[in-house]
Amino acid sequence: MDLLPTIILAFWFILPAYAANGLAVVFGRGHRLNLPLDFGHNFIDKRRIFGDGKTVRGLIGGAAFGTLIGALQLISGEQIALPWISSNAPIGFWVILAYTLGASQITLYFLIYQWLFSTPLFFILMGLPTNSRAIFAPTTFHGFLLSFGALIGDLIGSFIKRRLNLERGQPAPPLDQLDFITGALVFSFIVFIPPLEIIIILLVLTPVIHLTANIVGYKLRLKKEPW
Ligand code: CTP
Ligand code: MG
Repeated sequence: MDLLPTIILAFWFILPAYAANGLAVVFGRGHRLNLPLDFGHNFIDKRRIFGDGKTVRGLIGGAAFGTLIGALQLISGEQIALPWISSNAPIGFWVILAYTLGASQITLYFLIYQWLFSTPLFFILMGLPTNSRAIFAPTTFHGFLLSFGALIGDLIGSFIKRRLNLERGQPAPPLDQLDFITGALVFSFIVFIPPLEIIIILLVLTPVIHLTANIVGYKLRLKKEPW
């Protein structure tokens, strides 16, 4: 499998989770009509359950936006990406198929092509993961699972940080960078298990991207801390 297409595919797959996590920061800003998810309550250790950094607005806004991204991915995947991939099938692939069938049987040829296009074999021939189809055109529900899972993972991360006596916003690497991605992956497993290489790429590259994005968010004054 080629590395660059797989990296692109990995980020296309995880986009709703990134969108939800990023937009939670935007939706969660300010105090007006913005309740913390723990309603200000403490846990049995007398520290906040999640803290003021996890809000109802952030959760709902982030999940709604991520789901919307998933719906747009479905439309663009079906209208643009999949037709484009199928039109770019390597010439050798066409030739072998035509040769095997005898060039005159053109109808059969197209039927078989159509059928092949929905099988893992087609994607292997294209140097892509076997279940690429579900990544290119995910369902809206999958978008919801990825974004909601990301925010739940982030929430669990904050719960752990509070138990470790870390104040809201204090850094806790690599927890801050990996909590949301882990949550998104686990929730998405309900409907779809991505190829292992995609999971590895995401776990390796997400901390780098997360740190970069947070520095940018900090410079744009969207975030209070650069982590
Ligand atoms: N945010 C929110 N609701 C969420 C997640 C995030 O309102 N469910 C907003 C908050 O304004 C939060 C900001 O996004 O301050 C950045 O998120 P994050 O870095 O995850 O939170 P921290 O403030 O760093 O808090 P914690 O120490 O609990 O991670
Ligand atoms: Mg933080």
